[in-house]
Amino acid sequence: MFSSYTFPSGVEVKNRVIMAPMTNFGSHDDGTVSEKELSYYRKRAGGVGTVITACAFVTPSGKGFQGEFGAHDDSMIDSLKSLASTIKGEGAKAILQIFHGGRMCPPELVPNGEIVSASAVPAEREGAQTPRELMEDEIESIIQDFGHAARRAVEAGFDGVELHGANTFLIQQFFSPHSNRRSDKWGGTLENRLRFPLAVIEEVKKAVNKATNAPFIIGYRLSPEERENPGITMEDTLTLVDVLTNQELDYIHLSLGEFFQSSMRDKESTTPIIEMIREKVNGRTPIIGVGSIYAAEDAKKAFSSGIPLIALGHELIIDPQWVQKMESGRENDIETELDPTAQEQLVVPDSLWNAIINSPGWFPIKKQ
Ligand SMILES: Cc1cc2nc3c(=O)[nH]c(=O)nc-3n(C[C@H](O)[C@H](O)[C@H](O)COP(=O)(O)O)c2cc1C
Repeated sequence: MFSSYTFPSGVEVKNRVIMAPMTNFGSHDDGTVSEKELSYYRKRAGGVGTVITACAFVTPSGKGFQGEFGAHDDSMIDSLKSLASTIKGEGAKAILQIFHGGRMCPPELVPNGEIVSASAVPAEREGAQTPRELMEDEIESIIQDFGHAARRAVEAGFDGVELHGANTFLIQQFFSPHSNRRSDKWGGTLENRLRFPLAVIEEVKKAVNKATNAPFIIGYRLSPEERENPGITMEDTLTLVDVLTNQELDYIHLSLGEFFQSSMRDKESTTPIIEMIREKVNGRTPIIGVGSIYAAEDAKKAFSSGIPLIALGHELIIDPQWVQKMESGRENDIETELDPTAQEQLVVPDSLWNAIINSPGWFPIKKQ
């Protein structure tokens, strides 16, 4: 856990623990990062080797959350700089997660209230609106927006970018047979559904290579399965993963609620998804695992799987000193339940704090 790690691009991190990307809803309405967010990251960037930021939208039609910050315009570079330097100032490497929310964007956050996606198919959830199907030139333009956002990340001093291909957002929407019903080259066959993710990767690589000669991390996050029918299956994902290993990425980051969870579509299968993916990747690309790591034992068990890097989400909000406590043998002092009276000490922006407190079951809460 505490040995350094060098990504394929050459960026070296001091340990193998990563702060998972977490949206905090605390940015200014103009898309700039707020002081409160900087304080929240400062509090958490001192122990982990790497911080992956909350997702940042690459173009206004992709803004997925109230209080989300932007990487959509050169006027955001100063804001991005403040975030990168805050994280790096505490000793961690800083990776900017870049994304487009597609059909999951709340209409009130996007221009003209018009949400867009691969096809005009709404998500299967209460109140979901039907998105407008993107035209080919708009698809090309969004691919370029990912490239511009990556270039801004370089200019702002980040050590890398993570392409958010998970959690039902636009990159996943193109890969998914649920949200992508297109009959042109961007949809239909599995090969065509892979075209958008691969085009985004290629554009980002091109933009980064143009912007810098220094080592720079490019990672890709994916959700292995969807519940819907049709929806992404493990078979689809194993093909995606196989293709991703040929893209010279620095890592593949799985998005899972439980580190060792097995397939939700195939109830008969008991093999952890992370095992299936590890076997398919076969050492060709580093993998980041994540999901419900709270206590020291959870982390030790996760590393025993042979996965080189783990990310922590909830737990770093609950206990920002998790890594320092592990490192100094104070494992028993680790808090694994959120103290509902400790917002100030934990340095969590109001927006995120209120969301947590008002969403029973989202976080384990300490009884008072
Ligand atoms: C408050 C919160 C915000 C999140 N925002 C993002 C996000 O912006 N991008 C992303 O890829 N995942 C996001 N996630 C998912 C986490 O990165 C992580 O995959 C998930 O919480 C499981 O890990 P954990 O059990 O260690 O929290 C978020 C999770 C939480 C709790």
